[in-house]
Amino acid sequence: MDNILRYLADNQIYLVLGILIFFSALEAIMGFYANWKRSKDDLMVESVNFGFLMFVAKPLITFISFGLSKFLFPNLENAISAWPIWLAGLVYILFDDFTQYWYHRSSHEYKWLWKWHRAHHTAEEMGLLVSYREAVWFFLFMPNIWWIGIFTYLGGGIGVAAAIVIKQFFVISSHSNAKWDAVFYQKKSLKPIIKILERIFITPAFHHGHHAKSIIDDIGHPNGNFGNMFSIWDQMFGSAKFAHAFPNSDNYGLPNDPKDSWVSQVFYPVFKSDKQGSEISQDYKFEKTTKLEPSQMVLKEGDYLYCNCGYSKTQPFCDGSHHGTKFQPTKFSIKKEKEYKLCNCKLCKKSPFCDNSHLKA
Ligand code: FES
Repeated sequence: MDNILRYLADNQIYLVLGILIFFSALEAIMGFYANWKRSKDDLMVESVNFGFLMFVAKPLITFISFGLSKFLFPNLENAISAWPIWLAGLVYILFDDFTQYWYHRSSHEYKWLWKWHRAHHTAEEMGLLVSYREAVWFFLFMPNIWWIGIFTYLGGGIGVAAAIVIKQFFVISSHSNAKWDAVFYQKKSLKPIIKILERIFITPAFHHGHHAKSIIDDIGHPNGNFGNMFSIWDQMFGSAKFAHAFPNSDNYGLPNDPKDSWVSQVFYPVFKSDKQGSEISQDYKFEKTTKLEPSQMVLKEGDYLYCNCGYSKTQPFCDGSHHGTKFQPTKFSIKKEKEYKLCNCKLCKKSPFCDNSHLKA
């Protein structure tokens, strides 16, 4: 085992490059590049971020965290260098993935961090380049990048290098449009295999669900499935959804995306968007829009998303403003076209329908 891991570590750069080339070749063969929806802004967000992550953030943070460790814990240099590589790699990757789960989850639950992570979700289609979409500051605070320097200082450098190769496979494949797990959902005989694998590792279907615009298709799970390599954290902390399918192709991205420029997506808040109503514009106001009176309206048959957070500009329906909070909408279905009274006060026990709780408020 240690020989294999040492091989991965020794050839880290070539292997990560190989994984990227392999998945981009698969995407090309599947015709993805001939029909892609990428705009010029999308490509700029991805290429600037890729360059910043690889050539600035990672080397710089690793250098600083290594130096800081040396300064703060002078007696711990190479303290674990006698560990077998598999043990060092395992300890490194478990802590790496655990901290990344919480950093990622926080970026969906706190508005200021959401604005740095939001570019990751403005892509309206998946593809391996989606892995490299954030505001640049987001990378600087990623706890797992700091962990690389600390763990290397402790003497686990070979385990780190090997684990990074393995993790890159999961990160790149879960964003790619070459969905290696799709066949497992189609063939009954293969389903038991994926049902075991997905309980440990992130599969493309699991992560594609996280990139959905909404829960409307019963597959998307944008307020969950936060894991990077392991799905165990999502299961432990109640944010997992195993849909065994991929979101509808028109259900990727952000609801009501104002299509901000790449500069504002990558450098917010230094450069803000000039798009009216954008969350990263100068004039954006994050304020409650609830009112006591219910909305009386005729609803046609169909599926709707009811706003629970109280920030939607299209009350009582969800408009995506809940991103950056701990709220998510409720899906409800109307079977018969008629007039309904929908709750706006967010106090009703029968929401989305009004039960007159506003009269007691
Ligand atoms: S805007 Fe989506 S839950 Fe309020």
